[in-house]
Amino acid sequence: MIDVLYRSRQKENLDKDVLNFLSSLKEDVNILTYDILGTQAHCLMLNKIGILTPDELSKILSSLSKIKFESKNKESLQNIFSDKLFLSEDIHELIETLVIEDIGIDIGGKMHTGRSRNDQVILDVRMKLRDDIIDICELIINVIKSLIGKSKEHTNTIISLYTHLQQAQIGTVSHYLLSYTFNLLRDLERVSSSFEKINLSPLGSCAIGGTGIPIDRNYTASLLGFEGLLENSIDATSSRDSMIEYLSFLSILMSTLSRIAEDFILWSTSEFNYIELSDRYSSTSSVMPQKKNPDPLEIIRSRTSIVIGMLISSLSLIKNLPSGYHRDLQDLKPLLSNSARIVKESLLIMKGVIDTFNVNKKNAFNSANKSYGVSLDIAEQIVIKYNISFRKVHKLIGALVQHAVKNENISLSQISKEDVNKILKFTQIKINIDELMSIIKDTTPEKSILFRNSYGSPNPMQQKDMVNSIEKSLLVYCKVVSERKELLYAAFDNLEKEVILNTIVDNEKNY
Ligand code: ARG
Repeated sequence: MIDVLYRSRQKENLDKDVLNFLSSLKEDVNILTYDILGTQAHCLMLNKIGILTPDELSKILSSLSKIKFESKNKESLQNIFSDKLFLSEDIHELIETLVIEDIGIDIGGKMHTGRSRNDQVILDVRMKLRDDIIDICELIINVIKSLIGKSKEHTNTIISLYTHLQQAQIGTVSHYLLSYTFNLLRDLERVSSSFEKINLSPLGSCAIGGTGIPIDRNYTASLLGFEGLLENSIDATSSRDSMIEYLSFLSILMSTLSRIAEDFILWSTSEFNYIELSDRYSSTSSVMPQKKNPDPLEIIRSRTSIVIGMLISSLSLIKNLPSGYHRDLQDLKPLLSNSARIVKESLLIMKGVIDTFNVNKKNAFNSANKSYGVSLDIAEQIVIKYNISFRKVHKLIGALVQHAVKNENISLSQISKEDVNKILKFTQIKINIDELMSIIKDTTPEKSILFRNSYGSPNPMQQKDMVNSIEKSLLVYCKVVSERKELLYAAFDNLEKEVILNTIVDNEKNY
């Protein structure tokens, strides 16, 4: 009986509610294609070592091709799933069931020789993760490119820099946007690095302790485009540390996106009014017609919490598991696939927000201009010119700011010469009052940016260098990603050819 495929010991079928409770079939849509590819490779190997005759291999391969073909169509996929929903615990059992239904147990029943669901499932997960990592890397690269593009438009756009959310120094919009690119570049480096740990084949480890069948693990690994093997069969089937490391990288990446979102949300408030989000990236209110809300950015912020939650769930899920496969591990699969889905969607939305927002240059400038953000620049010019103690000058400028604030927040250059002189005398700093007055008057926000030229500052020359270095690093990652893609395409191309070559041409069966 098909519905008891694995139940050779049990006399009864699983209770319906129990089956429903423990089945991963719905989640397994995400690994269906990988499962078929893995089985194709495994069967080609079984033929190579003489377990499957060419005819048996051909029958299995054409049956698998049928399932692959049908699963591409949403409707027929739903049919397969709903028909068998109460019969299979997961995609592995379902596919074996379908093949056996199609070609009989004598041949179809050979498919799972020398393999267990334990190495099979983690093979599928690793294959999906490889694709997700490639997608995520590409999407991060696109966001960085958008940030660079936008930053080039705003090399000279003045904006306040903040610490403690209080206006600090004078900056530029481009300097801000480039700061995110450096952060995202590290995220890219992290996510990209997990590819190497994931790209190792567990196939052939069997349930936990290998197999007596003379399998060829290297052959299946190379058919599936893996860089190498996971050496120890216990480790291969039970460890999930690399996946959790990857989830932690995704959580860090999301927290980067969330912080960028937070800046943009703040800047788009009417109080800041530094940027205006595109209408296409804003929501509104059901009752307040004037509202323009940054909901997509808020959702990025909230989804960050969800991804972090999934990292914590995954850590709690494995921390008490003894060696070997446990069904608990099944619940890691949705954590991995949902996190990847959220990350991909968030990167896509973030790119759109960046590409389409407008900077309110005037407003950003006026706010920076009113902020006393030039105070440090004035102090440093005095230090350079007169070589006097920075601390003493700090006190002088602090006293000038205090005076200006008390007088209806006038700017430092609006303080009368008389008042400046009084404060100067009080601090006992011996500098020429006219020279001091002209330093104060000359230090505009624009000059402040030009004056500050330390490595990494918002000075336009520094920003040019930053763009160059980011673009250089991006090229390296673009190359890494495209090489990985090419290797996988080549492997799957070759696998497809082997499958066709080993499937006896018979028009009826030729899918
Ligand atoms: N559905 C299972 C999972 O996703 C497949 C492995 C089941 N293995 C087992 N020994 N019950 O993890």
